[in-house]
Amino acid sequence: MDHFEIRDGAMHAERVPLDAIADAVGTPVYVYSAATIRRHVSVFRDALAGLEQDGQPPLVAFAVKANPNAAVLSVLAGMGCGADVVSGGELRRALAAAIPAERIVFSGVGKVADEMALALEAGIGQFNLESEEEAVTLSEVATRLGLTARAAFRVNPDVDAGTHAKISTGRSENKFGIAYTLAPDAYARAAALSGLAIQGVAVHIGSQLTDLAPLAAAFARIGGLIADLRAAGHDIRTADLGGGLGIPYEPSKPIPPSPAAYGAMVAQATAGWKVRLIFEPGRLIVGNAGVLLASVIRVKPGSVAPFVVVDAAMNDLMRPALYDAWHDIRAVRADGERFVANVVGPVCETGDTFAMHREMDRVAAGDRVAFMTAGAYAATMASTYNSRALTPEVMVSGDRWAIVRARQDIAALIAADSVPSWAHDDMKDE
Ligand code: LLP
Repeated sequence: MDHFEIRDGAMHAERVPLDAIADAVGTPVYVYSAATIRRHVSVFRDALAGLEQDGQPPLVAFAVKANPNAAVLSVLAGMGCGADVVSGGELRRALAAAIPAERIVFSGVGKVADEMALALEAGIGQFNLESEEEAVTLSEVATRLGLTARAAFRVNPDVDAGTHAKISTGRSENKFGIAYTLAPDAYARAAALSGLAIQGVAVHIGSQLTDLAPLAAAFARIGGLIADLRAAGHDIRTADLGGGLGIPYEPSKPIPPSPAAYGAMVAQATAGWKVRLIFEPGRLIVGNAGVLLASVIRVKPGSVAPFVVVDAAMNDLMRPALYDAWHDIRAVRADGERFVANVVGPVCETGDTFAMHREMDRVAAGDRVAFMTAGAYAATMASTYNSRALTPEVMVSGDRWAIVRARQDIAALIAADSVPSWAHDDMKDE
């Protein structure tokens, strides 16, 4: 459920009309609803109720990559969430938002020594190691600093998550984690390394999962592994079950399993594990807490359907171009008329297409449209391609709103380049 609703004929974010934001900030602009973010955290926590271990509730470590905006992280910090980070930059963002270090887990296949040192000095809760080579580096860094790194191995359970190939991570051919068949040996070797306290197991098989069966299969393998590791003498205290639960994007498609159904599956799969459970939801928390608000520049006739040219483009919202993702596109002021159109941006690529032959609200030049479900993997994946400024972000809470990232200044973008003195030289004598 989200808080983007039509009131008095116009779409609002909570109690703020989107038109008011567009008038003040211009378009394109991302708009987030704080109430929706909070609601999703509560729903997810409720779904995990009963999964306490030794009186400790599961840790909900928000996957910062889904939406790293400082205001978003601050809302989540205020709710007691932790963070799943995958770079030194994300770690710094999480700490700056006052997410306690002990609630931070550090994932990612390519952590470098400097990032490890930063995380160790901050005192993060857990490193999710993706290879034995990485364990060796972490051991060296921790030993040099005289610190102990609490760590888990991310285990690749070789399960097909049944999602888009580009966001599937749990097959043996994917780059992520260590093969679960090789895990006992990896744990044995890592246990002998100085500066490491190997405390857990981590798994994440992919994103936008619309079926619980692959998750259940992966967790069953993790349960077996935990038993084997304990039998071999390892003190396994945590199990990080990753993120991945899908959300509804396309109204005509079946709704993905609810957080409650996910929680029930987890309860069954993890019964008797006696570990602290960690979850890394990203999309589920922020996905439908955001819209990308854009204006229609013009409607251009097409051979099959008209092209609605909007002022947002693939550089602002990459998901359709990258994953053929479907985002609902609604008029901010819908009059009940519908038409079939292609919705495209101004960027000079055919891939800059948000929708083809889409039945949608009829819109004309000057109208505003909202790309729904644009709170996750949206603003954060933007680029300045075609020298377009990064899109500003706004957060709404009740009847209040604030710019939480200003529109990038094109002059500053250009000024960031530098021109060597010889660039203008006439090279004809060379
Ligand atoms: N944990 C790990 C280790 C991850 O790699 C990810 C996402 C998550 C948690 C959070 O997954 P979620 O709950 O959001 O599904 N850009 C793509 C999605 C990439 C997901 C990458 N990893 C998209 O726009 O669909």
